Amino acid sequence: MFRGLTKYSQVYSHLWQTYGSSWQVRLSFTMHLMTRIGKLVGLPIALSIIITELSKQHYSNAYAGVAFFVGISLLIGIITPLTRYVGMLGENKIYDRSTTEYFSRLVEADLDYFHSNLAGYLTTATRQYVDSCVQLVRALRDRYMTTLLGVLFPLVVIMWLDVWLGLVALGLSVIQGAYLIWASNAITPFRSSARELYKENSGRMADVISNILAVRSNAQEATYIKKVSTGAVNEANAFKQRYTKQAKLTAVREFITVGFFMVLLWLTVARMSSGAITITTAIIVVTYTTTILTALYSLSEDLDAHDDLVDKVIPAFEILNRQNVVNNPAHPKKLGRVKGKIEMSDVSFAYDVGQNVLEGFSLRIPAGQKVGVVGLSGAGKSTLTKLLLRFNDVTDGSVRIDGIDVRDVTQTDLRRQVAYVPQEPLLFHATVKENVLLSDPKATDADVRRALKQAHALPFVEKLPDGIDSIVGERGVKLSGGQKQRVAIARAVLRQAPVIILDEATSALDSESEQIIKDSFAEILKNKTAIVIAHRLSTLSEMDRIVVVEKGRCIEDGTHAELLAIGGVYAGLWNRQLRHGDEPSAVADAGLVADV
Ligand SMILES: Nc1ncnc2c1ncn2[C@@H]1O[C@H](COP(=O)(O)OP(=O)(O)O)[C@@H](O)[C@H]1O
Ligand SMILES: [Mg+2]
Repeated sequence: MFRGLTKYSQVYSHLWQTYGSSWQVRLSFTMHLMTRIGKLVGLPIALSIIITELSKQHYSNAYAGVAFFVGISLLIGIITPLTRYVGMLGENKIYDRSTTEYFSRLVEADLDYFHSNLAGYLTTATRQYVDSCVQLVRALRDRYMTTLLGVLFPLVVIMWLDVWLGLVALGLSVIQGAYLIWASNAITPFRSSARELYKENSGRMADVISNILAVRSNAQEATYIKKVSTGAVNEANAFKQRYTKQAKLTAVREFITVGFFMVLLWLTVARMSSGAITITTAIIVVTYTTTILTALYSLSEDLDAHDDLVDKVIPAFEILNRQNVVNNPAHPKKLGRVKGKIEMSDVSFAYDVGQNVLEGFSLRIPAGQKVGVVGLSGAGKSTLTKLLLRFNDVTDGSVRIDGIDVRDVTQTDLRRQVAYVPQEPLLFHATVKENVLLSDPKATDADVRRALKQAHALPFVEKLPDGIDSIVGERGVKLSGGQKQRVAIARAVLRQAPVIILDEATSALDSESEQIIKDSFAEILKNKTAIVIAHRLSTLSEMDRIVVVEKGRCIEDGTHAELLAIGGVYAGLWNRQLRHGDEPSAVADAGLVADV
């Protein structure tokens, strides 16, 4: 029971902090409170005036009572919609703000968080959180407050009229209330398992949609439809279990309610027959007992709806209260435009504790040097670039840029210094131009074209229906693999950063196109420190230096000629690729394919 209460306090303190600050929300609550009191106090008083005056045959006073009654009802009628309107204004304002706040927290979460959560779930959770907060605030005002007042106010009145009846009514309400809360908690496991299944199946659907090509090309539509359908059956079963349990709990609740009514009415009659209370008191007690019961009825329905909403808010705290692993330092050093000296010293790193991907890895790159990185798939090449960009923190050792530890500067400052083309080109569902502009939104069309030209992308982009304004489709599906890579390179070129990282950025290009890009490498990499990871070794022949990475260590380091001369791993790979005419298939034989 108390575990359940922590959940509520967490949600309510959050609601108070976010929504409590809005004067519109506060005003709407106050207005609603006024109409409720009008209904609970004003109307019964008006009624009692009418009845009393009628019994005394003071008809003009009775008319006054009627006018009073109508006046209050009218006032309530006018204020109620106004209350909702004012409330809506406040909620709307906060709706944008909390969507923005939540989404910015989400976007700034550690990259690892995204790797361990399905995109479909994260999107649903974001929308559910904000929607549920607003719904909770509304329900709190329009329903729960009504319900609570509907219980509390009559209790006070009954207590005031007759302490004994009051105490009994209070006792019965507490029993009823406690049962309702207990019942709602008893439902919680059923509700959470239903929610888990819902989350699982949403994630599964999103996963199928984003991998639709894999599903279709393997002719596995039926398999996945079956998986989703089984998921839906499980969801439906969970719902069934939950509602069966709920029906049982409701039946018990009905008995308790009948008992409540019976005891209180019986006692009222007894008190009256012993002369302890008057007929007026008896009538008021009976009327208010009905009010309490109506309120308690809606309380049990409300609690269920309420808990559903609370449960939809809870997952948001995973993000809102999340402590990131990679954080900006409290007092960051200023990092202006760097020269580009990179030092990775004795770096160890593991994604999963105990499984080092890099171990005692050291690499020193003077500013302006161009380094090719070679190694089998899974050797740790992409990982070392991620550490340089500080997507993850090293477990041991340090990564420095111009002598400054990457942990001592803000992530934004650091990443501004690096143009990065990841292994998988990441394109938005937007135009070619917008995709390139991502790295420098203020650049002109001419800059974009220049970048596209250097990346050898302009010829094909110009042939697209709308040129640089053509939409590339979700994740760039409307482009070929090589075209996507060239747009991604153009993006990095536009960045004009002193350090550039190309992670298998030309892997999907045919040898000829790659040769053309390689020719513009001189221009693209000019005056920059460059780390170029490639599996086609000919791409790297003009690098100042080449390092070979194996199992998270640097095992060979030198110029192309030096490495050939020592006749080690690099020389072996080179000779093999040469023999096979530098064809990508030969590269696959060598085990150096990009791990897609
Ligand atoms: N996000 C991740 N979580 C856990 N393990 C990872 C993650 N990314 C990569 N790895 C593992 O780290 C190792 C090195 O990967 P990576 O640096 O991508 O290799 P390379 O780029 O040399 O092919 C691989 O064994 C891979 O499975
Ligand atoms: Mg890689």
